[in-house]
Amino acid sequence: MKDVSANADAKRLAGEAAAELVKSGMVVGLGTGSTVAWTIKRLGEKIKEEGLDFWGIPTSFQAENLAIASGIKLTTLNSHPVLDLAIDGADQVDHNLYVIKGGGAAHTREKVVAGSARRFVIVADESKYVPKLTWPVPVEVLPFAFRLVERRLTELGGKPVLRLGKMKDGPVITDNGNFVMDADFGTIEDPKGLAAKISPIPGVVEHGIFDNLDELYLARAGGVEIIRRRRG
Ligand code: 5RP
Repeated sequence: MKDVSANADAKRLAGEAAAELVKSGMVVGLGTGSTVAWTIKRLGEKIKEEGLDFWGIPTSFQAENLAIASGIKLTTLNSHPVLDLAIDGADQVDHNLYVIKGGGAAHTREKVVAGSARRFVIVADESKYVPKLTWPVPVEVLPFAFRLVERRLTELGGKPVLRLGKMKDGPVITDNGNFVMDADFGTIEDPKGLAAKISPIPGVVEHGIFDNLDELYLARAGGVEIIRRRRG
């Protein structure tokens, strides 16, 4: 699908820059969304133009289809449990490199793939880079547990809303057969603390707060800036 958003050029810049990280012989996680789609398409070009030869592990049905169309060889976490690299998009990244993902309802598989990778890279345009996270947190939920999770997220100070389909009546169904709730917590002062409170709610499959980002490829006016996590 053509990306007609105002940030489409910046998304392309960041997405294509990260494709240069992929080398022959690697196993690479392929994220979901319109920014990392540029990475996947560029990788397809590099396969044809340069003979780049690597394995991809897609994070969603969307990523899988795009990877197949781009000529990328696919494998599974079962065959390749440790990845060299995972590249993905984000909904927001804060200045401490905490991330909110799941705008495409793919965050559960995205988190599993990123957690299996030695290096996790996010590609984004500048609008996503914020001092503090404010994006509603996507929470994948077992349909059976939807009301309990809704109540608990509200008790934590969130305003959870069941994500509804477009061109489909009723809820969005994830690639794993579950629902997604978007819980607005306003400004999130302590992403790690909030994540630790959401995870144990019975019926929560996975939330969209990520704390394992290594590098952010951020498209800014002057080009792509690479922001690395300070380890200490
Ligand atoms: C999907 C995601 C996406 O990476 C995130 O929503 C960003 O998408 P886009 O690059 O289209 O803005 O987390 O679950």
